[in-house]
Amino acid sequence: MTDNPFPKEFWWGVATSAFQIEGAVDEDGRSPSIWDTFTHTPGKIRDGSDADVATDHYHRFREDVGLMRELGVNAYRFSISWSRILPDGTGRRNPDGVAFYRRLCEELLASNITPVATLYHWDLPQVLQDRGGWLSPDSRHWFAEYAVAAKETLGDLIGVWATLNEPWCAAFLGHSAGEHAPGLTDPGAGFVAAHNLMLAHHDAIAAMREHRSDGDQLGVVLNLIPAWPASDDPADAAAAAKVDMVQNKLFLEAVFNGRYPDEVVEWHRRFGVADQIDLEALAAARQPIDFLGVNYYNVNRVRHVPGAPAPGPWPGADEAVIVVPEGPLTDMGWAVDPEGLTWTLKRVATEYPPLPLYVCENGAAYPDADPVDGTIEDPDRIRYLESHIEALAEAIRQGVDVRGYFVWSLLDNFEWAKGYTMRFGIVHVDFNTQKRTIKASGRWYRDHIARVTGDG
Ligand code: FCB
Repeated sequence: MTDNPFPKEFWWGVATSAFQIEGAVDEDGRSPSIWDTFTHTPGKIRDGSDADVATDHYHRFREDVGLMRELGVNAYRFSISWSRILPDGTGRRNPDGVAFYRRLCEELLASNITPVATLYHWDLPQVLQDRGGWLSPDSRHWFAEYAVAAKETLGDLIGVWATLNEPWCAAFLGHSAGEHAPGLTDPGAGFVAAHNLMLAHHDAIAAMREHRSDGDQLGVVLNLIPAWPASDDPADAAAAAKVDMVQNKLFLEAVFNGRYPDEVVEWHRRFGVADQIDLEALAAARQPIDFLGVNYYNVNRVRHVPGAPAPGPWPGADEAVIVVPEGPLTDMGWAVDPEGLTWTLKRVATEYPPLPLYVCENGAAYPDADPVDGTIEDPDRIRYLESHIEALAEAIRQGVDVRGYFVWSLLDNFEWAKGYTMRFGIVHVDFNTQKRTIKASGRWYRDHIARVTGDG
């Protein structure tokens, strides 16, 4: 890096989520989540696996915090399992579930690692799904109650809170594309779920603010995937704009301005769900946030194809086709486009009021070999991380207020519908023995942190 734009207090972190790493699904009073149901439904997970054990982090969290110390990170983004804290979804609090996160946070704080918590990383308690899940108008109240329960029981240890992780996935992969729990394939349901998630986000911010401590930061994490036209053809630009509307604009407008773009309102009518989406309620619920988390992996390039149906997770985007990218690709089949990260951060900074940003997830899956003599060489992942950190540096040089960066992921883990087939970790996990091995990329990240913070 030619000049180092990262301030000393910048957060260099790693990220995980509860369902993907914890395991211990029926311990200490946890109730099932929609992802337990989904993983145990035949045909939903590529390798037929489940996350009953995952990386056994619930029992190995001290070792995992030890790995973070070795890497030299100063922040850790994780998510809290709603069904550990409130096994009935609402009401009764489960002290044993709370105790796990207290132990984790105490271990982090003793290691000078700042805990950054996400309340909802897609694992809705199944009992609430049985009452309608995110399609129920009550969901905003359930979520606000959970947010208060988490804040009251953990707020002395955690000062940075994100409400939702990637609501686009929860809404549209979960309710329109059927790829994620709860597995619905209904275009309109995606919009209803997105709406209730946005109400839930605002209500949770409002409720947590009432229990605010000095210096708390409250925000939300969006996966802003750039939708770029595949060519200069204006028809491709129009198709890309529709994908962008569902992927990005819907959530940015709802979060910042308490409204939806006109096209989205039109789609509410077209899919027959306008009566379930109260626009005034969204405007009234709107709360300012203290930070926005941005997850970035790749760019979608979009082509106009006459007559093509809208792709499943972008209902409304008729005649838009996501182009299959050309190599080199990550194991997810995603192209490596670091300039999309600079572009995305600048976009948020340009189109919305000034606000601290965090890159809450960035990383790559590659098919790593097994460890040899205790090491794993993963040069592709190093190149991916290095080029994206440089793209982030460029955004900062251009004036964007980015305060932290979190690698996805600390550990190889359960990658949702792809099961254990995708390895995103900078630490390798042997899923048979649970042995952890820091990959070359982990050592590279450690050295990078030491270099830019002047500790190297
Ligand atoms: C994001 C998710 C995260 C992980 C990465 C690869 O969409 O937030 O849980 O699955 O993708």
